[in-house]
Amino acid sequence: MAVSKKSKTVRILGIESSCDETAAAVVENGRTVLAEMVATQVDRHAVFGGVVPELASRLHLETIAPLVKMTLLQAKLEPSDLDAVAVTHGPGLVGALLVGVSFAKAFAYRHQKPLVAVHHLAGHLAANYVEHPELEPPFLALIVSGAHSHLVMVESYGLYRVVARTRDDAAGEAFDKVARAMGLGYPGGKKLDELAKTGRPVIALPETSFPDSFDFSFSGLKTAAVNRLHKARQKGETIDQADFASSVQTAIVNTLLTHTEQAIRALNVNTLVVAGGVAANSGLREGLKSLQETHGIDVLMPRLSWCTDNAVMIAAAGCHAYMNESFAGLDLNAYAVLPM
Ligand code: KG4
Ligand code: ZN
Repeated sequence: MAVSKKSKTVRILGIESSCDETAAAVVENGRTVLAEMVATQVDRHAVFGGVVPELASRLHLETIAPLVKMTLLQAKLEPSDLDAVAVTHGPGLVGALLVGVSFAKAFAYRHQKPLVAVHHLAGHLAANYVEHPELEPPFLALIVSGAHSHLVMVESYGLYRVVARTRDDAAGEAFDKVARAMGLGYPGGKKLDELAKTGRPVIALPETSFPDSFDFSFSGLKTAAVNRLHKARQKGETIDQADFASSVQTAIVNTLLTHTEQAIRALNVNTLVVAGGVAANSGLREGLKSLQETHGIDVLMPRLSWCTDNAVMIAAAGCHAYMNESFAGLDLNAYAVLPM
């Protein structure tokens, strides 16, 4: 990466507030973490069974200034030691994003630092550059989060070609909605994963694919699973929760792995990078290991805490944009929907 060619050390402050985590981090040269903090709002939303957008915005607002202050203290840096501030500007909850974007703009103006806008999914991807400092494009990436399921060819830093996306629900959405119908509460994906560990995949659920496309679709699987639960309840039938969780997880993971395997073959890649909240799923991580063995390719993923939302990934992605001198103006806006 271009960072090493420049003699100067580049330190970026990253800010993330796209959903229910307020996060700040300082990353050096796009690869070394100097400080990181995540304030999760999970407990505040759990009572409502999901993220309440207005509450998320208010909590970000209360948290962001002290969180950034603490992050700089942890890094033992003054704002003047930073080279730029990078912030997620979409996609996500627009009110939540606006808190991070507004704070970053004010910080950049006050300290006369360049501002860098980061796409949330490009951020997820960049967590891998920190986890695996030797990683360089090109590679294929599977990005699986609460709202997105993408296969992306990363041609070079910041140059992406989306080769598959979900045509309806994301994998994370399927995990969360089924978990909710099972009464597992919020956030459901992680709880379903835990439960699946003691179950067997005895219930068949649809694994959708399309001819001549690597695209995903999870709404059929989600609806079939939720309907199965409702029918069982109506009939007074008991379904083993662990077996049900294992069946759902198996169907989601199989779908992700099958499409990814097809893309690996068709695009003849030798490195697969995995990112996003669903990359924390134990079944997916296990399945990816066998993909690595079968195809003799490198399969890389971040540690669990860098799969879900964090600011290390935003600072890392921001470093690449900084090196390309791709700066945002103080008119930067937040976007609920933003193409990669
Ligand atoms: O990337 P992320 O933290 O936020 C978004 O950008 O959406 O991803 C959140 C998603 C949620 O759907 C959550 O249930 C899912 O990632 N998730 C998991 C696991 N941990 C988080 N899904 C399955 N198994 C897990 N262990
Ligand atoms: Zn995310």
